[in-house]
This record gives sequence, structure tokens and C-alpha cells, in this order.
Amino acid sequence: MKLSVFGTKFAGDSGIVGLMDDLGSALLENPGMIMMGGGNPGRLPQAEAQFRKHLEAILADSEKRHSLFGRYQSPGGDHGFRSELASYLKTRFGWNLTERNIAISNGSQSAFFVLLNMFAGEMPDGSRNSIHLPLTPEYLGYADSGLSDNFFTATRPEIELLDDQLFKYHVDFSRLELGGRTGALCVSRPTNPTGNVLTDEEVAHLDEIARDRGIPLILDGAYGLPFPNIMFVDATPHWNENTILVLSLSKLGLPGVRTGIVVAREEIISAYANANGIVNLACGNIGPAIATALFRSGEIDTLTSAHVTPFYFDRATKAGNAFRQALGDLPYRIHKPEGAFFLWLWFEGLPISSQQLYERLKKRGVLIVPGHHCFFGLKEDWPHRHECIRVSYVQDEEQVARGVAIIADEVRRAYG
Ligand SMILES: Cc1ncc(COP(=O)(O)O)c(C=O)c1O
Repeated sequence: MKLSVFGTKFAGDSGIVGLMDDLGSALLENPGMIMMGGGNPGRLPQAEAQFRKHLEAILADSEKRHSLFGRYQSPGGDHGFRSELASYLKTRFGWNLTERNIAISNGSQSAFFVLLNMFAGEMPDGSRNSIHLPLTPEYLGYADSGLSDNFFTATRPEIELLDDQLFKYHVDFSRLELGGRTGALCVSRPTNPTGNVLTDEEVAHLDEIARDRGIPLILDGAYGLPFPNIMFVDATPHWNENTILVLSLSKLGLPGVRTGIVVAREEIISAYANANGIVNLACGNIGPAIATALFRSGEIDTLTSAHVTPFYFDRATKAGNAFRQALGDLPYRIHKPEGAFFLWLWFEGLPISSQQLYERLKKRGVLIVPGHHCFFGLKEDWPHRHECIRVSYVQDEEQVARGVAIIADEVRRAYG
């Protein structure tokens, strides 16, 4: 097979595809594998009941059913959903939005592919722009999305040591140097993999830097506000004309419907929708149909505040306590869990790399994500990047408890 440059890059083994394959085949090889690696949300019966109720109401109505299955929407997405969401965001946060500020994607992952390549890569004058990650580690799913090489640059964070074996990353503004060729800043808030939530001050400062440069700030709210609101600290949601806020229905419990949402100024939305038309023609209708009903009825707020947020907070607390007990006096730290649904563990001076730890754990039936994948874009060598792992705690509690015990045992062996 003779592949193009595009084909070689995108059909080859990328970090994320390799890891996802490994996660998938590991389960085939060992059905008893404890899955603490993937990004699936937890199962919440109350959420499932609401999704089902709204879907059944749509299916029972022949016109609505037809528009769900039998129609393409425009490349920007379902008009009714976009207006409903615009008025919801306007009422809740005072953002000056209309449906022309909102577009839909087939999952936010595909929105990132389009957006990141819209602002970085080869420029009309032949130069190359990159996307800057003001705080690394960042979401592994961005890593291979660039159409050109050296697509990301990143700033190493400042580490604040906290009580209770916790730590927190902060944007190190003293190191944040944007070369002349930065096309956009990009951050997830809460951050996958660490569960960090950028402070309001950090977001305001990044917003200011982006404006001064005339580049957008891309804010990934896949776990954040207003939904699914997997946040355990107070933080102000952020959007303005220079911000591209990307949301998703996945972590609310609907990863299978593949619905992402882009909120941006009109010029960016219309550029995005044009590109989305080429890549996808149109987006799926099921996610927007369910979500429109949730917004219209106002159920979205109670669903998140009464069920989603407490479920993950409870799990984060239990997983943190289990690790504290199991790791005892080992030199470990846990990133303060402020949101999302992972614990990010740091084993300072670990004699083996996080990749080796991942492989040893896989042999013992536990899957985690080795942290080094999440430091893409960082040019300098930093031992810290091989000392961290990401652990998801959304599996059933008994499995998580077993997984924690095995991880602790393997880490103890590694320290010798
Ligand atoms: C931070 C972050 N952004 C975006 C995505 C993409 O999610 P989706 O394509 O399901 O909307 C994920 C998925 O895990 C994520 O963790």
C-alpha cells in the first residue's frame, strides 16, 4: 500500500491509537482485566432514565422520529438545539450568544481535529504555526491531531506541594514564552489527565495573553461547566469573543451518541461549520435531540448537581483514601482532585519508567495510562514526565479497590 504523507501519519501507529488498541486487546486477552485506563464515564441509573425517557418520547412521535433518523442537518448542526443552548448559556452565565455562536460536531474529538488544524500548521505565507499548551501534562487525544510535525509546544508547570500528600500544577507564567508562530492556546479545564482546574486568575491571564497576541484561547470543557459539571472546586465558567469553548455530551453519560459542541464568535463558527461540512457532511441527531429536551425542561441542572457531580466526588474521595492507605510511606503524591474522573499519581524518583510500570501492571491484570504520553509538546527533558500515571476510578468500587492494591504492590516492588 502506497500511502501519502497524510496516510502515513494518520494510518500509522499514533500514541493514542496504539494505547487505545492496547486497552481494547488487553480486555480480549484477559476479560478479568481491571480497566483503570480508559475515559468511559461511570453508569448513573438516574441519568440513563432521563435519556431513555426523552428518547422514547421522540420515537413515539412520527414527525420527530423522522427528523431524528431521516434528515441531514446543516453542517453547523440542529438549529433548535443551538438556539436552546444559546439561550440557556445566556441566561445562566450572561454570555452574549445566539445560535450563530454555536456549532455541533460528531464528538468533541473531531471538533478539535478541525479547530487545531484551522489555527496551526502551514500558513498561507509558507511559515508554520503551532498550538501552545500553557500547562503540560495535557489531554493525550490532542497529541496526534496535527497535520504537520512539531504541531505543539508546551510550558512545564510550576508544582505546588500541598498537605495530605497532594500537589497541584499551576501555569508557570515565568516560563510561558510564546514564539512568534503560536496560532492558539489550548487547555482542558478540568484537565485530563490530572483533574486540575485552572484558577480563574490563570484563565484570565491566559485570556489576556491570547488577546494581546490576537490568537484564540481554546478551552476544552469536556468535564466542566455547565455540563457535565464534574468539578469539585468553585470556578467561574469562561467564554468571550476570543475564547473557543468546546463542550461534549460524552462525560454526561452519552459517549456513544458522539456529540461535541463548539461555542465561539460567529466568524469562527462559520469557518468551523464549513470545514465540518467537508469532513462530516452533517452531525448525528440523537445527542442534540436528547440534550434539547434536557435544556428545555431545565433537567440538565438537577441531573448534574444532584447526580453527576456527587457521584464522581464520592468516587474521587474513596479512590484517594484507598491509595493513601495502600501506598503508606512510599514517596507518592496525588494531584489534588478538582474535577474530571482520574487520579494523577506522582512517584518521585521512581526507579522504573511509567511505561515499565504500565507494562508490569498490565501483566498483573490492571490497566492504567502511563503519564509520559501526556507531556507532548514539551521539548526539555524532565524526569517528572516518567514518574506519573493516570488512574480512572469510575469502575465499580470493588474493582477499583483491587486495582489500587495491585498498583500499590507493584510500586512498592519498583522502589525495592
Ligand atoms: C479532555 C477531553 N477532551 C475531549 C475529549 C473527547 O471527547 P468526545 O469526542 O467524546 O467528545 C475527551 C475524551 O476523553 C477528553 O478527555
